[in-house]
Amino acid sequence: MIGRMNRIDSPYAARRARLAAQLGAGGIAIIPTAPVQPRNRDSDFPYRPDSYFYYLTGFDEPDAWLLLAADGRATLFCQPKDAEREIWDGYRLGPEAAPGVLSLDGAHSVAELDALAPKLLENTRTVWYPFATHPGLESRIDGWLQKVRARVRFGALAPETQRDACVLLDEMRLVKDAHELAIMRRAGQISARGHIRAMQRSSAMLRAGQDVREYHLEAELLHEFRQHGSEFPAYTSIVAAGANACVLHYRAGAAPIKDGELVLIDAACELHGYASDITRTFPANGRFSGPQRTLYELVLASQDAAVAATRPGARFNEPHEAAVKVLAQGLLDTGLLDRNKVGSLDDVIEKRAYFPFYMHRTSHWMGMDVHDCGSYVEPGEVGQVSERTDPLSGEVIKDRPSRILRPGMVLTIEPGLYVRPAAGVPEALWNIGIRIEDDAVVTEAGCELMTRGVPVAADEIEALMRA
Ligand code: GLY
Ligand code: MN
Ligand code: MN
Repeated sequence: MIGRMNRIDSPYAARRARLAAQLGAGGIAIIPTAPVQPRNRDSDFPYRPDSYFYYLTGFDEPDAWLLLAADGRATLFCQPKDAEREIWDGYRLGPEAAPGVLSLDGAHSVAELDALAPKLLENTRTVWYPFATHPGLESRIDGWLQKVRARVRFGALAPETQRDACVLLDEMRLVKDAHELAIMRRAGQISARGHIRAMQRSSAMLRAGQDVREYHLEAELLHEFRQHGSEFPAYTSIVAAGANACVLHYRAGAAPIKDGELVLIDAACELHGYASDITRTFPANGRFSGPQRTLYELVLASQDAAVAATRPGARFNEPHEAAVKVLAQGLLDTGLLDRNKVGSLDDVIEKRAYFPFYMHRTSHWMGMDVHDCGSYVEPGEVGQVSERTDPLSGEVIKDRPSRILRPGMVLTIEPGLYVRPAAGVPEALWNIGIRIEDDAVVTEAGCELMTRGVPVAADEIEALMRA
């Protein structure tokens, strides 16, 4: 988030210029920030600005709007200076200082928005705003457009088209610029340190004969994130002991972490508006058992295959397909899947017989939002639709060619295996849940993993947990 009165020319102004150039003659974009979210009674959740708004302004106060015209003129509406409110709620930049600090062409009090927005919309042709993201935004804009229409008899032109600003902004945000990648690398490093700290606390507490709970390890993560300036966790931390690791959206709770169990931690920090996303799975006491190591090495091999498939020119689906192939072969080799029932490797993949053990995808885009925006379909190929019947649900699914990876795109690579107790499943493997997740930026040569400050090799994890 910005420091008070820091001048921010770039990269926000550069992004606004790129967006303005895509609005078309007579276009105008309206981008509001996020509202304050009440938590209970008169307490609010910690404030976080809207990702699109912050991407274009670097401004982190609530109650703010950006209006950007196709000629590049940028107008901010923000909270007015208010000596009394600032005593209670803190400093406000205010419309007088905002143009200088944020390199804008003009700024007004947000109290004037309903009066001034119709004037800014007059004689424009297309209004761009983020569709279906801010409840009430459409009707607010309708009200402004009605005021513009009331002036057409005096020769004013009213916009005739409304378009979704997300379409332009999602494409821009999908390919990260140098400023974004520098923050994301740092976020990945901080998160990695949090994981190391949690691993070491687990084995140290067990060695000391202490009662280890999931929240003890969560506390280590949060300490490390905040210690290095992260504003928030990027998402709710998962710290899952033993069987809890098989619950995909488990939260860090109070369950005991027992000697001999695995712990799955999916937790990472948000730094200056950018997420990181790391999962590590480790033995609570610092030593993998034989069956735990067998499955761990299998998930790691599948991640290696997915990493190798993450390179410019490859499709977004290719890392997933590479991971599935390794996992499916491993499920046959370990006897988790019975060849006599499920057939060959190709059958397992085609019929999705691996699904009871691996039921999520391997990747998602990551950026300001942990599950970031950006189309997963290659834009030039949206018309190439093929149909297939899902072998498990029987549902007919329309497929379009998956996105071609380009340098600067950031995606997670996070295969896993989750073994619930079931007939025909070797009991030694019951309740083992393993996921290994790293954040990759596509480079000219392949990809760079931004989160390897915490190791993944079983031996390296054991070594650091002995330390
Ligand atoms: N932590 C959210 C995810 O891995 O997708
Ligand atoms: Mn993820
Ligand atoms: Mn994750």
